[in-house]
Amino acid sequence: MSTPAAIDVVVSEVVEVNSLIKRFHFKRPDGAPLPAFSGGAHIIIEMQDGDQTRRVPYSLMSSPLDTSDYQCSIRRDDEGRGGSLYMHREVVPGMQMTISPPANLFALDLRANKHLMIAGGIGITPFLAQSSQLERTGGQYELHYGVRSRELGAYIDELQDRLQHRLHMYYDEHNEAMDFDTLLSTQPAGTHLYVCGPAPMIEKVLDTARAAGWPESHVHFEHFSKAPPGEAFSAELSESGISVEVAREQTLLEAMEAAGVDAPYLCRGGACGQCETDVVECDGEIMHEDFWLEDDERASGKKIMPCVSRFRGKRLVIAR
Ligand code: FES
Repeated sequence: MSTPAAIDVVVSEVVEVNSLIKRFHFKRPDGAPLPAFSGGAHIIIEMQDGDQTRRVPYSLMSSPLDTSDYQCSIRRDDEGRGGSLYMHREVVPGMQMTISPPANLFALDLRANKHLMIAGGIGITPFLAQSSQLERTGGQYELHYGVRSRELGAYIDELQDRLQHRLHMYYDEHNEAMDFDTLLSTQPAGTHLYVCGPAPMIEKVLDTARAAGWPESHVHFEHFSKAPPGEAFSAELSESGISVEVAREQTLLEAMEAAGVDAPYLCRGGACGQCETDVVECDGEIMHEDFWLEDDERASGKKIMPCVSRFRGKRLVIAR
């Protein structure tokens, strides 16, 4: 699969949701509708930050029933590679940007008798779109949403108005925690589970679901890695016949793109498998950050996911 085609957009609105989160609205410059999408889809936002190009995935939170604009909420991450900081500091209404078409790795299974949604923090964003979709299609669902505090939660008032009894809130500041055991053991047959939020929360929900005997086909999770920064390293690309230098705040995929290598991707978050690349030679350690490779593939040292994973050592040669 080749890389997704780009869409030119203009930033039509930037809204400060709270002290950590901003919402960005994107429209086509001529006002024409954007491509259709379904709840759970993400886009990749391209950021031209000085001489560095970043492409970062974010969930679409707006209603799939309205493609006049796309909306993404972005939480500022002061420890990240700089994508969210760039969005918060540099992106203003009227700015022209480029995004990818939507792709959905976290779609609702519309065969479900019921949809059980569990969100933590900024992981609420795909559920905003999914709940809008279900309001139109009439599916049965409930949303359990945990936040650190009311102040740092996002869209609580909107969700309370829209979802009413289907919304269940949990506030850390009041020591309220979701009881996953009870929640997952009291659902009607045919329920599908969806979870998005911090990695430890996702792991806990998945472990509870496995222990309670949920079929894997009924369990869905959004587990994008935010490619962490790390030490700079270099990699040789055997098919292109070049070497690339990967800077501290760059990914191997971004370094290849900067060198003009057309490498495949879809999620850019270690989840979809599109960028999986064979390792030809590795004298050092690959720091795997993906959710795609099996344990034995990681241990073999023969595979790397360049969208998120890094390398430390003397020599890395990959088949690109
Ligand atoms: S692009 Fe999806 S795993 Fe790398």
